[in-house]
Amino acid sequence: MLSAIEVPFTDLSAMTREVWPDIEHTFTEALLAARYVGGPAVAGFEENFARYCDTPHAVGVANGTDALQLTLQALGIGPGDEVVVPSNTFIATAAAVVRAGAIPAFVDVDPDTLLITPEILAAAITRRTSAVVVVHLYGNMPDMDGLVAVAERHGIALVEDAAQAHGAEWRDRRAGSFGAAGCFSFYPGKNLGAFGDAGAVVTSDAALAGRIRSLANHGRDGGANHYEHTFVGTNSRLDALQAIALDAKLARNEAWTDARISFADRYRKELAGSNIRLTEVDPLARHVYHLMVVRVADRARIQAELAKRGIQTGVHYPVPCHLQPPLRRYAGGPLPVCEQAAGEQLSLPLFPHMSRAQVDRVCEVLDEVSAR
Ligand SMILES: Cc1ncc(COP(=O)(O)O)c(C=O)c1O
Repeated sequence: MLSAIEVPFTDLSAMTREVWPDIEHTFTEALLAARYVGGPAVAGFEENFARYCDTPHAVGVANGTDALQLTLQALGIGPGDEVVVPSNTFIATAAAVVRAGAIPAFVDVDPDTLLITPEILAAAITRRTSAVVVVHLYGNMPDMDGLVAVAERHGIALVEDAAQAHGAEWRDRRAGSFGAAGCFSFYPGKNLGAFGDAGAVVTSDAALAGRIRSLANHGRDGGANHYEHTFVGTNSRLDALQAIALDAKLARNEAWTDARISFADRYRKELAGSNIRLTEVDPLARHVYHLMVVRVADRARIQAELAKRGIQTGVHYPVPCHLQPPLRRYAGGPLPVCEQAAGEQLSLPLFPHMSRAQVDRVCEVLDEVSAR
């Protein structure tokens, strides 16, 4: 039998409780004024989020998957194009490539960071490669200098999947500001999460931002004529209520991120020297700890033992993309690091409103249930 939850995996309502007094009035006003889609709340959030990411433009969209798909489409990537994708990621990264009509070329990851490296990217490029999606998984960032250099040398587009990396940095530069575009998810559980689904693309390319905005709004050109369409687009707009919630949370995101980092540092300190393997962080990266991922040999047992003591954990992700049934046809062969990590990864509780005592409790139980 499972005991009462002592340490939850996350606590989204604590974030809502913190922002609600600030937004209650604006939220109700927007509702009663029937300003649901687009408008000043969305424009205001886009401006603030672009500034947060050190980029001139942000386009709000309906979710992170659309952010990726629309970016690839707006870059002209489609049938016949290969897009390099690390297999250790959420399926949406690869699904967006397939939905854009292109072919995901799955690659392995570095055994210490579990992220793509410049060497892995360089080795995967063929004549058909037109882009790479670099994933800042867990909130950590790979060697962006090296990755950008490889992409430039081969003339391919670099798209950042920053769905888990709001505010992450490489050499003091924000995630999303390195590639042709950075794609974000504001799914409620993300570091910056909406009250439902939402997403955004940031870029320094005004023309690209315009094409994405148009594709996300039925191909409209943004002019006065509501029924003039330049492209066959889709409906993937950010709604005003989500923008109001996101703007209030954005104002707190640095404080919430600092809290995540300090809890992660404590985990690292407490678990150092144990047989729990930590994922490594390059000293040039600011890891924003969307997830606190460790690796354990005996995951099912350890997860069950933790659950018995009221500690919730997650697995991100149990099956690498190239082994997911709908994507197996794109697999080029085994990817040993991804495959091994999928069997060992364990995400520990980590959220801004947790307590130090909760981190210590997780470490104490981990220590007890994992043989040193
Ligand atoms: C790495 C990664 N890419 C893409 C996505 C897709 O974002 P969304 O769920 O908002 O479509 C997510 C989150 O779910 C993610 O974690």
